Amino acid sequence: MENRIHGKTKVCGLVGNPIEHTLSPMIHNQLAKKTGTDLVYVPFLVQSEGLYNAINGAFELNITGLNVTVPYKNQVIQYLQEVDDIARAIGAVNTLVRTKGGYMGYNTDMEGLFRGMISDGIRIKGETVIILGAGGAAKAAAYLCVREQASKVYLLNRNVERAIVLADSMNYAFKTDIVFPMLLNDYDKIPEEHCLAIQATSVGLSPNCESAVIEDKDFYKKIHTGLDIIYNPEVTKFMKLVNMSGGKSYNGLKMLLYQGIIAYEHWNQVQIDEATASWLYELISEELKNHE
Ligand code: ATR
Repeated sequence: MENRIHGKTKVCGLVGNPIEHTLSPMIHNQLAKKTGTDLVYVPFLVQSEGLYNAINGAFELNITGLNVTVPYKNQVIQYLQEVDDIARAIGAVNTLVRTKGGYMGYNTDMEGLFRGMISDGIRIKGETVIILGAGGAAKAAAYLCVREQASKVYLLNRNVERAIVLADSMNYAFKTDIVFPMLLNDYDKIPEEHCLAIQATSVGLSPNCESAVIEDKDFYKKIHTGLDIIYNPEVTKFMKLVNMSGGKSYNGLKMLLYQGIIAYEHWNQVQIDEATASWLYELISEELKNHE
């Protein structure tokens, strides 16, 4: 499409605050170019008190789809025509798809995390999983781990009340009792020795690259694989600690990539193949390096 905008060009975008450093425009505009789709994706900076007007205005402006990011993934739910069951159970919507009377909300973070893990060869089934955090990202991770039949999920959070609420809601949603909430500092009470860890707190995010939510090297002895939801820096302190104790580590860039791809698939009713996903992964990796 060579960046030409026509009368029929589909418009999609991102709603959040802040959004200055987002990679989503690159993901979607490159996908549109690659697949020859007449679509343009733009960032929209929205203030909290303007969210209702922004969503309704977007609908009136015939915008095809929106991504929703921090801090609106929960707040946006009340303004939607319909919400997909999974997004409702997770309590967070990051993708809006235009329907007849309003937008339908989905959560592509969870499926994005899953497709990223498949691509990296990380298994969930039968694993003991330690999730660090109980915020939005941790919710998507917890839902995925229970759905994909982890044998046990420890949910560790600084504010243990949040971990308890999340563990209860996951156990309730799946009619199970495998999710155990814990205080973050009680990590040394986990009896299992070979665990998959998912780092879903904001600790270690650039520019605070020298911190990890758990610094104790003994903790990492039990982690055979560590996945950090953070992708900037490329190698987080958490990942370094996993590597130092002999485990394998991965960052969150594939989750970001696939949540975008799944949103794009919703908006365009297409399937993006793995060759295109790998090509795009290289592009966004390069872009991130240039930003550093
Ligand atoms: P997100 O949607 O990105 O997950 P969030 O909902 O604000 O963001 O959650 C951030 C997570 O990082 C929470 O689990 C938070 O712990 P609390 O619930 O106890 O606040 C965690 N977090 C942030 N800073 C932290 C710190 N310095 N130490 C430990 N955990 C921290």
